[in-house]
Amino acid sequence: MERTFAIIKPDAVERKLTGKVLDKIEGAGFKVVGMKKIQLTKCEAEGFYYVHRERPFFGDLCTFMSRSPVVVLALEKDNAIAAWRELMGATNPANADAGTIRKEFGVSIEENTVHGSDSPESAAFEIPYFFSQLELC
Ligand code: RTP
Ligand code: MG
Repeated sequence: MERTFAIIKPDAVERKLTGKVLDKIEGAGFKVVGMKKIQLTKCEAEGFYYVHRERPFFGDLCTFMSRSPVVVLALEKDNAIAAWRELMGATNPANADAGTIRKEFGVSIEENTVHGSDSPESAAFEIPYFFSQLELC
């Protein structure tokens, strides 16, 4: 069993898509081992997306991610990291495959509904950024 980290981003929570996204997650066989709804500060978003600090979209991304609440999730499944990236779809919803969450719900390359860890190293940073060991079960 592997764990990955996911976020239901502000664009989706604002449009009341939390339940629909969770339904796809559980329908795909993931176990939700941690979940909470929080609103990030700009500073917390910057810390989370630290690896992207040099990218041109970094400022806009952190403003977007802190503008309203998100739902943060720790998910468990065989090959969870790759399986969740596959279910999310490509970063730009316009390029995402049919059946993916971003294809169905994504608004734009930035407001793309969900986040997912891209490697075991990312998951190992991202899960404890939001969850203590006691919150995972
Ligand atoms: P994520 O980290 O959220 O799971 O998305 P990702 O791996 O598919 O994409 P990444 O390259 O890590 O980018 C992180 C997030 O930044 C926003 N973005 N905006 N305006 C742009 O060109 C642009 N490119 C990326 C998206 O919200 C993307 O998910
Ligand atoms: Mg990424």
